[in-house]
Amino acid sequence: MGINIIGTGMFVPDVIAGNEDFARIVDTSDEWITTRTGIKTRHITNGTLNFQMGAAAAKEAVEEAGIDPQEIDMIIATTVTPDCLTPSLACLVGKELGIESAAGMDLNAACAGYVFALDVAKHYLESGEFETILIVSSEIITRMVDYSDRSTCVLFGDGAGATIVRKGEGMYSCALKGKPQGADKIFTKLPAPNNPFGKNEFDWGNDEMNAAPDYFMQMAGNEVYKFATAAMPEAVEIAAQKAGIGVSEIDMIIPHQANVRIVNTAIKRLKLPKERFYVNIQEFGNISSACIPLALAQLSHQGRLHKGDKICLVGFGAGLTYGASIFEWE
Ligand code: UT7
Repeated sequence: MGINIIGTGMFVPDVIAGNEDFARIVDTSDEWITTRTGIKTRHITNGTLNFQMGAAAAKEAVEEAGIDPQEIDMIIATTVTPDCLTPSLACLVGKELGIESAAGMDLNAACAGYVFALDVAKHYLESGEFETILIVSSEIITRMVDYSDRSTCVLFGDGAGATIVRKGEGMYSCALKGKPQGADKIFTKLPAPNNPFGKNEFDWGNDEMNAAPDYFMQMAGNEVYKFATAAMPEAVEIAAQKAGIGVSEIDMIIPHQANVRIVNTAIKRLKLPKERFYVNIQEFGNISSACIPLALAQLSHQGRLHKGDKICLVGFGAGLTYGASIFEWE
């Protein structure tokens, strides 16, 4: 069974921060950011909450699909930056869409979230449990960015992407992977509990994690870079093998947008023409799990996806998680 993405949507806030804006707040330059990452601008929230961005993207996807939102029977939201610890982003988006009845849940696989969510959706569609699934990936990454840390703050932006997914008839394959031993390579800690009964001092079993401030993202950039350059081609190759096709048969690869140099390394390793990789990092920076569905929406709106095209999505991120899926556009 394949998957049929019948609608796509995206939303980005209208405040745009350019590299020169960062050069005014930390010791950096347009030249450094451009050559090391490929990023020129990123969109940053100006009071719009995560669920409001997600709902805006979801409404566009519903409209494109031409369905009534009441037809959605499951909502899977992917995020690492929810507005609330509870309820889920999925339920907040469902409320905003006026949906009366749908199962909602959040999935956190960091920047690989959409690839993981699509596979979960595929299995629920295949089982017959649900017929119309909204996957909404929305992130306010700037919520956990330390604007005094030049090595991370220049990388991230906010935004959302959404898709409406139904059963399809084409090919679908997926490889979901992870390296939990790298869980301390990218993390954002919440404050320890402060209850009146037990001990309120906690040991993470790791000096860096013990010392890190709450709420701010910490990243071992170089180590993640090395992981990502190997993980991306590996996941694509496994997904292609599972699909029974050669990598050269893929028409379009939509990679997670973390660093254009990571994409360029994958292009070399997979020996594919540059034009088969979609890159929009220059405009949006890294929006974690929203990167891939936002790119899907852009490509779909530009009429660049055609029936029968073999599309490959590949993501990687904190966890460490990674994964790729390949499916035919219907
Ligand atoms: O989506 C989640 C997954 N995340 C990723 O995939 C991120 C993967 N990592 C990366 O993309 C890269 O490692 C970074 C973009 C984060 C860093 O690029 P790099 O080429 O690996 O730089 P580096 O960390 O090796 O740092 C090189 C130099 C250092 O200075 P010294 O020690 O050589 O004097 C840094 O302090 O660049 C310095 N530096 C900066 N300089 C100007 C770090 N950030 C900046 C900056 N502006 N913004």
